[in-house]
Amino acid sequence: MLATVGVGTVTVFAVASPYVWDVVESLARSGVDAICLDNHGGADPRLPLADLKGAARGDFTLGLSSSHARALAAAAAAELGFDAPVSVVDPTAVVASTAQIAHGAYVNAGAVIASHAVIGCHANVNRSASIGHDTRLGFAASVGPGAVLTGGVTVGAQAFVGAGATVLPGVTIGLGAVVGAGAVVTHDVEPGAIVAGNPARVVRHQQIDDWETVCPHSSMH
Ligand SMILES: CC(C)(COP(=O)(O)OP(=O)(O)OC[C@H]1O[C@@H](n2cnc3c(N)ncnc32)[C@H](O)[C@@H]1OP(=O)(O)O)[C@@H](O)C(=O)NCCC(=O)NCCS
Repeated sequence: MLATVGVGTVTVFAVASPYVWDVVESLARSGVDAICLDNHGGADPRLPLADLKGAARGDFTLGLSSSHARALAAAAAAELGFDAPVSVVDPTAVVASTAQIAHGAYVNAGAVIASHAVIGCHANVNRSASIGHDTRLGFAASVGPGAVLTGGVTVGAQAFVGAGATVLPGVTIGLGAVVGAGAVVTHDVEPGAIVAGNPARVVRHQQIDDWETVCPHSSMH
């Protein structure tokens, strides 16, 4: 289906994952129409898809939950001239008045963001996750469904915290690191490390040499 871009519309870019439906639903609950642009191929044809070629470069957000994929999609969007990322916060999320949500970030249904937390540009907080006070998420960082970042936690750029994981106070998760589902993280996690278990232990490392730490849109905002 091709939809018409109008007032109160946000473009959702990079929509090959079913996760895009969460973004579309959050926008709908906020009274905003979504237009989906498939830059990759394979998008669900039931989405309100529009043609990438003719699409307006207006307000946009990303439709992916995985950290590195979001970072790559942010770069692809910037390359195509999308320079107005907007944050999307589901109306069922609870966000402290002192928290900051940066451009392009997405806070999904039922998430709670506590005082003085900072959700970085193009970061993703998934369903029912709890982001404790003074916690900071970097560029394109992702927190999975139901994960608990207790307080004063730092999640580096493009790092990913899996579903239901718990990160203890003051812990730093390095650039591009991955915390497995259900892990309990008691110590800092090195950049690129993949950890799992309770207490979390390093399972292996992934290559992150060329991974960006800075949002391609940060110079535009
Ligand atoms: C930790 C993780 C990144 C490892 O992925 P992987 O490297 O592909 O690992 P594999 O699936 O090959 O599993 C390797 C081993 O670790 C174990 N393992 C995998 N994930 C685990 C986890 N979260 N906790 C404990 N053990 C885990 C597997 O059972 C397997 O053990 P075995 O060799 O004894 O059979 C992944 O399993 C994970 O938890 N990802 C997070 C998923 C998530 O939360 N998604 C959110 C959706 S929005």
